Amino acid sequence: MAHPRFHPVCAVDDLWAGEMQPVSAGGTDVLLLRTDDGAVRAIQRICPHQDQPLDNGDFDGCTLTCGAHLWEFDVRTGRSINPDDALLAMYPVEERDGTIYVAVDGIRPFHSHA
Ligand code: FES
Repeated sequence: MAHPRFHPVCAVDDLWAGEMQPVSAGGTDVLLLRTDDGAVRAIQRICPHQDQPLDNGDFDGCTLTCGAHLWEFDVRTGRSINPDDALLAMYPVEERDGTIYVAVDGIRPFHSHA
């Protein structure tokens, strides 16, 4: 299998713990978040419920709450908390030389049928 292609998306210093930032990774809308443990996570930008941008929601450093209908997600796992049966696409992340890189090839956003 080909090595995933990583796209530079933002400077490491531009994303602090508890912050989120929408970016484009090779044309794919991605939401970057730095969780309280210091790790950078990259998830689908659009809520799987009704396609609203998740960056309009609330992020407490671990849980992301969609601003539209308050679905909650644990961004460390990509699993929803409430309701408990939805998933977020998670993209591989690398931090290198002061830059955050995200790979998106072959990963599609999830949509809930609810
Ligand atoms: S669109 Fe996110 S909870 Fe409905």
